[in-house]
Amino acid sequence: MTTPAPRLEAIGLKRSFGGRAVVDDVSLSIGAGEILCLLGPSGCGKSTTLRLIAGVERPEAGSIALDGATVCDQRVFLPPERRSIGLMFQDFALFPHLSVADNVAFGLTGSRAEKRSRVKELLDRVDLARHIDGYPHELSGGEQQRVALARALAPRPRVMLMDEPFSGLDNRLRDGIRDETLGLLKDEGTAVMMVTHEPEEAMRMADRIALMRDGRIVQQGAPYNLYNSPVDKAAAAFFSDINVIRGTVQGGLTRTAFGEFLAPGHADGAQVDIVIRPQHLKLDFDRQGSGPLPTAREGVPALGRVTRARYLGRESLVELEMAFDGTRLQAVVPSVFLPKPGTPFWLMMRRDRCHVFPAGVRPAAQ
Ligand SMILES: Nc1ncnc2c1ncn2[C@@H]1O[C@H](COP(=O)(O)OP(=O)(O)O)[C@@H](O)[C@H]1O
Ligand SMILES: [Mg+2]
Repeated sequence: MTTPAPRLEAIGLKRSFGGRAVVDDVSLSIGAGEILCLLGPSGCGKSTTLRLIAGVERPEAGSIALDGATVCDQRVFLPPERRSIGLMFQDFALFPHLSVADNVAFGLTGSRAEKRSRVKELLDRVDLARHIDGYPHELSGGEQQRVALARALAPRPRVMLMDEPFSGLDNRLRDGIRDETLGLLKDEGTAVMMVTHEPEEAMRMADRIALMRDGRIVQQGAPYNLYNSPVDKAAAAFFSDINVIRGTVQGGLTRTAFGEFLAPGHADGAQVDIVIRPQHLKLDFDRQGSGPLPTAREGVPALGRVTRARYLGRESLVELEMAFDGTRLQAVVPSVFLPKPGTPFWLMMRRDRCHVFPAGVRPAAQ
């Protein structure tokens, strides 16, 4: 049995502007019904990647195939309208002079009855059937967005490309529309590439995230894996605030307030950063100068004192200064927890929540 080709497969895409590679050796593949979020800071090349796949931009190198059929390489170049790709952008524009039904039917072929039935089906699905004969100006921003989604999906594109589609909507509206959109895309079985610069949005929407930086994909995987096994410090920091504990390697180990950490592969004298998210630090009360008895997994408890505590709504943020070396750490604790500055606490870091990365600084000259 042969496995089917991915719905969308891009290999080694490259595009430069003014001699600078803006998209550099980008490869990704998306299966039918799968949602891939291309995530990265503004200017890293996300929209250019999307435009290459859509066919509105030509790559200097690389190839693109849909269901195993090449739509773009060094010899072939299918124009956008022949790629069976749906597009949706933040500043989507509905045709103001066309009814909602005619907007959705815009890209459809077939008999009047067939078109009407597909339009009805999609408007039902986005809960706008009552507006079928209305006009765009009669709809709210969120409703217009849903019409734009229905329009993009109407011709049953094999691939849907979405560029920051929700960033024009206000926060409260956004969650609902996101979830609704997700449901519809899943039902239609379309392969989706959604571009976003917001990690929360990517975590919420994606089956898989491709993290992009300076034109390259630095890590790809399930949201859980990107969050919990970042490839480097910047990848870790993209998803949440991080704590960094700097140490010097001696014999493959680095000493910290929390005991020794393995730093295999780092030379003696090298600086390493031990990274842990504030959510993953555990606090325990002081018992007349001694800490808790930790499990092996929790490592060695270390003493710190509160410098500041703030309530954030669902959780509290506690900042502490470590007795060992003055390192400042942040811990996020569920619900209301506002200890006074100076209060001692014992902190624990689970080893499997810590990541050791090169510090990215040269050791001091000897
Ligand atoms: N047509 C163009 N001409 C020149 N530079 C461009 C063009 N399109 C994009 N760029 C540059 O390429 C970089 C990546 O842009 P873009 O793909 O839009 O990033 P993102 O969507 O991640 O914010 C930016 O520095 C941008 O200025
Ligand atoms: Mg962009």
